[in-house]
Amino acid sequence: MCGIVGYIGNDNAQSILIDGLKRLEYRGYDSAGIATLNIKNGSCQTLVRKSFGKLENLCNFLKKSPCRGTVGIGHTRWATHGKPSTENAHPHSCNRISVVHNGIIENYHEILEELLAQKRKILSQTDTEIIAHLIALEKSKGNNLKKAMQNALLKIKGAFALAVLDENEPNHILCAKEGSPLIIGEGDDAMFVASDFPALLPYTNKFLVLKDGDIADISKQSINIFDKKGTKKKRETKVISYSAKMIEKGEYKHFLHKEIHEQPKAIADTILGRLKFKGQNIWLEGIDTQKLKAINRVLIVACGTSFHSAMIGKQIIEEKAKIPVEIELASEFRYRNCILDKNTLVIGISQSGETADTIGALNSAKSRGMALLAICNAIDSAIARLCEDDAGIFYTRAGPEISVASTKAFTTQVAALHLLALTFAYLNKSLHKGEILKEIEKLKTIPKVIESVLACEKDIAKVAQNVASADHMLFLGRGILYPIALEGALKMKEISYLHAEGYAAGEMKHGPIALIDENMPVVVLAAKGQGYEKIVSNLEEVKARNGRVLVLCDKNDKKLIKRSDMNFLLPFCDSTILPFVAAIPLQLFAYHVALIRGTDVDQPRNLAKSVTVE
Ligand code: F6R
Repeated sequence: MCGIVGYIGNDNAQSILIDGLKRLEYRGYDSAGIATLNIKNGSCQTLVRKSFGKLENLCNFLKKSPCRGTVGIGHTRWATHGKPSTENAHPHSCNRISVVHNGIIENYHEILEELLAQKRKILSQTDTEIIAHLIALEKSKGNNLKKAMQNALLKIKGAFALAVLDENEPNHILCAKEGSPLIIGEGDDAMFVASDFPALLPYTNKFLVLKDGDIADISKQSINIFDKKGTKKKRETKVISYSAKMIEKGEYKHFLHKEIHEQPKAIADTILGRLKFKGQNIWLEGIDTQKLKAINRVLIVACGTSFHSAMIGKQIIEEKAKIPVEIELASEFRYRNCILDKNTLVIGISQSGETADTIGALNSAKSRGMALLAICNAIDSAIARLCEDDAGIFYTRAGPEISVASTKAFTTQVAALHLLALTFAYLNKSLHKGEILKEIEKLKTIPKVIESVLACEKDIAKVAQNVASADHMLFLGRGILYPIALEGALKMKEISYLHAEGYAAGEMKHGPIALIDENMPVVVLAAKGQGYEKIVSNLEEVKARNGRVLVLCDKNDKKLIKRSDMNFLLPFCDSTILPFVAAIPLQLFAYHVALIRGTDVDQPRNLAKSVTVE
């Protein structure tokens, strides 16, 4: 969480920093700030502006009180240490040093006590301010900024991405990375720093991704990387194929809406040309299939929406490849002594590739000698790196997902899990080549079917009108529609703040049924082959208690349509296509309910896109 930007060049730093922060606001939005170095009459002065609340507040402040200068750093915050407020907003300064930070300093309290014992004046409740003090202390011993950073970092434990300005050394920005992401963009006589690629795409597509332990010394024309001992490191610059257009809303009012509509393309990009046969061997892009040969058990770790795709993946892998699959919330797995053996493959699923719990779970599995594989959307992210020299990374090709709530990442993860299931199935001879090619052909039809569902958006918006004033909602599903029910409820609550719960429909009578009355809309997801007869009975149980029933079913299912109060109708789909197609109306449903309720769709309260804290 939290977004960092930095700029050193010949242009006005303020506008570049603000532009970058706008593209990083999805990472945190409870306060924001920038610092620039302004050189006037030969002397350098640090200008700092900070505001509580969304970035817009900072922009308004800067209109009245701009920051001049061609060097600067900026930050958008998701609070960890210290409540959201102007005083806790970054940058934090001490003497002539200013710091922006993403991450958590674990030994904050010990360092704070030491600083207070030295009678240093601490102005905020953040863990970041102590970094500024440590660097300033090291500078006061006669060190230059680089050496001061090195010495200060030796005292800090935890996760951080840092960008640091020093009024005494205005020709460079110092950065450091440990755990939290940080990239450097190369421009023309200019350098950029950011937490993520989207911030910098309008300026460059040439990037250097810092590794843990790196300290970067950046000037307008150079990047020098060192470790904490000052030893020089070599890092490659990469050109990435994302364009600035991919991170603009275009004709859409919200990124969420755009991203829902991007799913046909995102799924096609994730599937096409990614799984092939080379002679008798199967090839899955990014994956060392040799390492999968001995696997006889799979454990998937993930959080939130990615966990829901893991639930679907379990069903697909077990059905296609007949390999037992366990799924576990990453936050639980990492603190449990789960029984693993050397033939277990541990798969981490993550859109951002930065989720602290998923990283922790994968690290815990790695330390126990398990083979690791990542399904990830963010290129070169921490999770991708963790698995690249192991069984590999399968990148979903959803493109940048900006809206905080995950949509296209979810469906592309499910597509990735399908391809992985087919790979396992070939390797352990559960399916032969002909059957696999047939399955791939089926997957290729998904984008078209999704387009037909997206075309029914107006009908979905009408259903939203009817229920948007409810206080609570239930989502029920069975089989492969159970995780879709969970995901539908998660989307609803996070973007519309309407309390929604997903349940395996069979569980309803074990408790949730007590909630049902005429005020409770219940979304029933029904499809032949997914416990259909049973879920029809569950629907009757809801109706018998005056619940309002919204049914998601096949458009030819006259019986269910008749029994429902409202419905979301799907074209016929078999079980391969069903989870993709069924997810779409529920995403649109949550979106339209959120619009009616007037919430902040792309940046719902209290959330952040990358959850880099436990
Ligand atoms: C929900 C949502 C979150 C994420 C979760 C994991 O819409 O976006 O639940 O799915 O925080 O994030 P990643 O996939 O980045 O590890």
